[in-house]
Amino acid sequence: MSLRSRAIQIDAFGGPEQLKLVERDVGEPGPGEIRIRHHAVGLNFIDIYQRTGLYPNALPLALGMEGAGIVEAVGEGVSHLAVGDRAAYASQPPGAYCERRVMPARSVVQLPDAIDFETGAAMMLKGLTVQYLLRGTQPQGGLQPGDAILFHAAAGGVGLIACQWARAMGLVLIGTAGSDEKCALAAEHGAAHVINYRREDFVARVKEITGGKGVKAVYDSVGADTFMKSLDCLAPFGLLANFGNASGKVPPLDIGVLGGKGSLYVSRPTLFTHIATRERTQAMADDLFGMVMSGAVAIRIDQRYPLAQVAQAHRDLEARATTGCSVLTL
Ligand SMILES: NC(=O)c1ccc[n+]([C@@H]2O[C@H](COP(=O)([O-])OP(=O)(O)OC[C@H]3O[C@@H](n4cnc5c(N)ncnc54)[C@H](OP(=O)(O)O)[C@@H]3O)[C@@H](O)[C@H]2O)c1
Repeated sequence: MSLRSRAIQIDAFGGPEQLKLVERDVGEPGPGEIRIRHHAVGLNFIDIYQRTGLYPNALPLALGMEGAGIVEAVGEGVSHLAVGDRAAYASQPPGAYCERRVMPARSVVQLPDAIDFETGAAMMLKGLTVQYLLRGTQPQGGLQPGDAILFHAAAGGVGLIACQWARAMGLVLIGTAGSDEKCALAAEHGAAHVINYRREDFVARVKEITGGKGVKAVYDSVGADTFMKSLDCLAPFGLLANFGNASGKVPPLDIGVLGGKGSLYVSRPTLFTHIATRERTQAMADDLFGMVMSGAVAIRIDQRYPLAQVAQAHRDLEARATTGCSVLTL
């Protein structure tokens, strides 16, 4: 008899009402695959881009990119995981909003015993993103202790991890957020300065904080609303890493603008390039686990929803009503 799993899928792109709870068969893992029984699943803004069709995928589409649980079965050729292992991942293809799934083993790593399943599920996609941004997406000459950076949406899932990680690296992180309460939260988690960008001009405030110099790097996941102004926050030769579109896609850029604003660099990185190989995924995960287990980075879960209430979770995330990480419980 085959195993069954509850799962969330969409049959058409659109709003949260498209998220349907279905039941489906889960088979045995093929070569290079595992079957995992989830204990918790992480929620990410990318799930919204996939639900709306901003990031295209074939339909019907099972959603979810992040989870943690127990390995139930291992396919041929998989040597880094065994049945019974605690495991966690951030991975393509989508399909994590479920009780159990078969998936490529390449992006799945063993989860240390010291990290509980909810934390594992909440931190893999967001934590690995901060890892590659702060360690691997740096301006010319790198980032040194004392350097100022600007990080937008600093009280969100990725944002609160970035505040703490930057503090551990000795960086002066200037965080933006959409309310005074969110600003206070970012400051509590290590942002050296905070700006409520709903009511303050963040370009003027960044100039003021840096004595007119600007920052060496801006990490911008807000996109359309902030992109051009983010360029104005940079010191000459600075780097703008646009890694998301929470407010909408960035319009096409006239590259000549970068010269006039001080020989700037722009990058559009994505986690999935960084975790393309198993070796690299493991090295990045080891760094992340080290940061969490040392206490330098705490993973804050502020929202928990049962799987069947995933539509509410999407509404809250889109409405800017969340802080820190959100997880689906099973
Ligand atoms: N490229 C990559 O590798 C990668 C990987 C992971 C995540 N990301 C991106 O990083 C960002 C953060 O992801 P997350 O999952 O941790 O989400 P999140 O930061 O918890 O939530 C998104 C936040 O963006 C801010 N925001 C600003 N304008 C918004 C708007 N018009 N609509 C909705 N939100 C708006 C809100 O914070 P305020 O109210 O404080 O403005 C909101 O809470 C997302 O853009 C995501 O796509 C990219």
